[in-house]
Amino acid sequence: MNTTPVQPLPGLPTRVTVYEVGPRDGLQSESTVLPVEQKAEFVRRLVAAGLTAVELTSFVSPSWIPQLADAEQLMALLGPLPGRHPVLVPNQRGLERALAAGAREVAVFISATESFARRNLNRTVAESLAMVAPVVAGATAAGVPVRGYVSMCFGDPWEGHVPTAQAADVVLALAELGCAEISLGDTIGVATPGSVATLLSTLDARGLPADRIAVHFHDTYGQALANTLLALQHGVTTVDASAGGLGGCPYAGSATGNLATEDLVWQLHGLGIDTGIDLEALVRLSLWMAGLLGRPSPSRTLTALAARIAEPA
Ligand code: HMG
Ligand code: MG
Repeated sequence: MNTTPVQPLPGLPTRVTVYEVGPRDGLQSESTVLPVEQKAEFVRRLVAAGLTAVELTSFVSPSWIPQLADAEQLMALLGPLPGRHPVLVPNQRGLERALAAGAREVAVFISATESFARRNLNRTVAESLAMVAPVVAGATAAGVPVRGYVSMCFGDPWEGHVPTAQAADVVLALAELGCAEISLGDTIGVATPGSVATLLSTLDARGLPADRIAVHFHDTYGQALANTLLALQHGVTTVDASAGGLGGCPYAGSATGNLATEDLVWQLHGLGIDTGIDLEALVRLSLWMAGLLGRPSPSRTLTALAARIAEPA
């Protein structure tokens, strides 16, 4: 199989945590609903390929996201796993379900814009913050760390460009609630490196350091890798991605899949950055998943390496 030519760039981290969202952000948007056993195998293969942070599922309303209505069954099938395995929760009910199912980390989510807050959580931004505040407090009291997502940090399908100060206000509000890590969501993939730099600099100037920030790029306009490199240059060391580029967002029609984990790992390894991930194992499992879902992966790296894997040794 091809190996990445390695040439480090000065000023970048030496190790990056790839935060895998395929089982949650990916599968929540697929029209094919997989049996829970296949979801469990997906997670196990991700862990076996070296992914140390895998978001497993969500404990949201099953009438909103029927694809993940089997969250309890999935957790029971998986049992304890090595590494970080957060689950997404929208409210107190979600937290109770997650804790009862054995979750040891949770993630809450709000929007930087009113339009998406209404469509995704049936709340205003302020009401969303009020809904997640007791979730963050309750999880923290139970010794469970909380990741916070802010969606639509750069652009919104209904409102257009999102001003940096507006996104920063929501990110900082979530940080003040006590989220250990905040993931900056470019839900519809419209950001370019200048806007990412501006938001990261603004957050830094307002007291939120890069070590509490993760980036969550969707690759709609092909900007996710450029934006990632920019974030690494600002000191961010946690990058969200989904195996095979699965996903989108069911309540934001213009969102395509996340940055593909294979494309991210190719870049990171090429920069000499350690991830602990076995890229060939990852490609093999994403090919298996593409077969289950009945559609090819949009990942360039996966496509290139799949051809090599198929060749006889
Ligand atoms: P609502 O309709 O305002 O809530 O929805 P409600 O309190 O009136 O409850 C409605 C029904 O849901 C009730 O059941 C509740 O019991 C039930 P009914 O009486 O009709 O039978 N319910 C629940 N059931 C199970 N688990 C729960 C739960 N909560 C209520 N936790 C609500 C409000 C928050 C529930 C709803 O808006 C919701 O579930 N939204 C989730 C949407 C979602 O999951 N979107 C995708 C994830 S976000 C994303 O992908 C973006 C991200 O990747 C970052 C990025 O890219 O930007 C994170
Ligand atoms: Mg997302």
